Amino acid sequence: MTNALRLGIAGLGTVGTGVLDILKTHEVMLTTRAGMPVKVTGVSARSKGKTRGQHDLSGLDWFDDPVALAKSKGIDVFIELIGGDTGPAKDAVEAAIASGKHVITANKALLAHHGAALARAAEAKGVALYFEAAVAGGIPVIKTLREGLAGNSVRKLFGIMNGTCNYILTKMANESRAFADVLKEAQELGYAEADPTFDVGGFDTAHKLAVLTSLAFGTEVNLASIRIEGIEAITLEDIRNAAELGYKIKLLGVAVAHDGGVEQRVHPTLIPIGSPVSATDDVFNAVVLKGDFVGDLVLEGRGAGAHPTASAVLSDIVDIARKNIRPSFGIPAKELKKYKPAPPKAHEGGFYVALELLDRPGAVASIATILADAKISIESIVQRGKADKDTKRATAQFILITHDTLEMSIQKAVARIQKDGHVAGTPRVIRIERF
Ligand code: HSE
Repeated sequence: MTNALRLGIAGLGTVGTGVLDILKTHEVMLTTRAGMPVKVTGVSARSKGKTRGQHDLSGLDWFDDPVALAKSKGIDVFIELIGGDTGPAKDAVEAAIASGKHVITANKALLAHHGAALARAAEAKGVALYFEAAVAGGIPVIKTLREGLAGNSVRKLFGIMNGTCNYILTKMANESRAFADVLKEAQELGYAEADPTFDVGGFDTAHKLAVLTSLAFGTEVNLASIRIEGIEAITLEDIRNAAELGYKIKLLGVAVAHDGGVEQRVHPTLIPIGSPVSATDDVFNAVVLKGDFVGDLVLEGRGAGAHPTASAVLSDIVDIARKNIRPSFGIPAKELKKYKPAPPKAHEGGFYVALELLDRPGAVASIATILADAKISIESIVQRGKADKDTKRATAQFILITHDTLEMSIQKAVARIQKDGHVAGTPRVIRIERF
């Protein structure tokens, strides 16, 4: 390393430009914190001619090919902000590690698919593979798990890890706006992924959860076993119903270490208003970590956007400058345990069930009987009369909140209710978590 830390940035989109902003604003402070000047010396991006805010890139080495930048002798740290689990991002990160460069990446997809292998490669070469920006934007959750909670066994974590989904759900609830309308706004604000299906389908949350699970439980990153459900089917009515019953709907990632293996799931969830992450709205993320000695930690902050995410990249840069080089997942990659999914045991909890009830005698009695047969106990019921003149509904909305029951039981009961012919359309079933 020379007397300055030389950075090569591949990808000058929202986050890349955010990193340049912070380096410029805090040049003096960062030199002190890093113990040396920190300079961008090389960049790689898709279009050379594009303006990047007030940044003049003319004095920097330009690389059309990020792999060439990754191998360049003019950098000490390769910062990958390209995205994607294959192609240029993976090739460039592998090339950087192979040529002895430290790597910083915001790429949760790459880590979710190849995290353990990349960490092994980095550790074999004695370089850092750091990724604070990959999970929950500006929240230092990686560092908290990797370093701050070293004295704890963490057996459960959960949280809101996708800013776009949280933004959409919040705006739908507070402004009665349609899903598509709010999604467009989130894209314009730079929160959403290039393909927003990754956000709203729950995949982005799953990638982040897979990374946190590995750090928390010391297991190899495993994306494949996560049950993923997105927010696309959540309606304004669901959000309103939930609010009236004392709940908010949030997209949660949940990981639990059981004695027999690990449970990971991503799904929309009703959480009681007043519970730890229920007040986390807009683009904010929140992660709850349950340590055996520290108790519950709630970390909340901006989970997406240029500057919060760039703030996380800067934390990795300063660590590398200060030679704080630790195993990427907290323990040496070769000591990460093989991932073992928890034995198939149905999820148990409360459920929200929304039915479009046909207005005929015996409909409610029939539903009550089916639920009683399945030994499902009801916490609350709301029925909204049909015949709303404005919407010309042919059905009444019938909402049930159940006490804790097996998911399997609710699925069977709902299938029977549908078969009975008293409801129209597809019942909507959403899990409830009372953390
Ligand atoms: N699309 C992501 C989000 C960006 O909305 O949270 C940060 O990973």
